[in-house]
Amino acid sequence: MTKCLVIGASGQLGTNLTGSLRAKYGKNQVVASDIRPTKESSQNEPFEVLDAMDFEAIKKVVEKHQINVIYHLAAILSAKGEQNPEMAWNLNMTSLLHVLNLAKENTKIQIFWPSSIAVFGPSTPKDNTPQDCVMDPNTVYGISKLAGERWCEYYHKKHGVDVRSVRYPGLIGYKTLPGGGTTDYAVDIFYKILQEESYECFLKENCYLPMMYMDDAVKATIDIMEAPVDAINIRSSYNLSAISFSPKELYNEIKNQISEAKISYNPDFRQAIADSWPNSINDAEARKDWGWEHSFDLSKMVQEIIKGLKEQLVIH
Ligand code: SER
Repeated sequence: MTKCLVIGASGQLGTNLTGSLRAKYGKNQVVASDIRPTKESSQNEPFEVLDAMDFEAIKKVVEKHQINVIYHLAAILSAKGEQNPEMAWNLNMTSLLHVLNLAKENTKIQIFWPSSIAVFGPSTPKDNTPQDCVMDPNTVYGISKLAGERWCEYYHKKHGVDVRSVRYPGLIGYKTLPGGGTTDYAVDIFYKILQEESYECFLKENCYLPMMYMDDAVKATIDIMEAPVDAINIRSSYNLSAISFSPKELYNEIKNQISEAKISYNPDFRQAIADSWPNSINDAEARKDWGWEHSFDLSKMVQEIIKGLKEQLVIH
């Protein structure tokens, strides 16, 4: 029987993934954990306060709940990582090595660990970026994700660890805010336009980036983890793609539904990070190996977010 631990369960992806895993496997089969309790965590049982930097603490929780699947989501993202590079490197690498070492001791434990489009860099082909190509990330976050991918493959080959990973594009949802990423504009814009009718974007209007609606990201995560072991041919991390758009295209789509919406552009340091990433991703291997398919295009995603966020903003 599947018994999951989600590390970083209060984050943008963690909140959504924990909900979907509980709907699928049952509430008690999914232990949520994060560095500190949140307002919601008392209603979010089973919940454990867990520092991803503490190997013994992770081990204790895994043994206590007889966990056999770990979703390790805790990380410092691209923009925040540049404010404190050593902290980002330490957290992102040490915590990954902790879960890999735990799974090395007990190879019945399956690991999911997210990589990112941030593994690519300025010399990477920008359009339809292939699975294998030049990778020269120039953010600490990207460097830690590329190093992490190499560790995952190493632990799989050397120690038989069943670790699986995808390179997420920018993830867009409305239930929880992202923290410290370069693609966060595509979430912020909805909140600001619904609350203040205008948004000042920190990226240029024509800056294309690969993006994905949260429901698709959660589906990809569960799909790759449930795929038969023989289907997983890539043990570093799979390219994963859904939609690509620019701030201007996203704004135009929102304006179709909210005619008062206004936007202005004031690019900051995050523009240089975005410039080093691809415009679009080729994810043929994920589609071929474990049947990945996305469901949300730009217009379906925008409709769903505006509807959901309007309800959420009224309720709170
Ligand atoms: N969304 C992430 C970021 O912007 C990329 O993985 O940092």
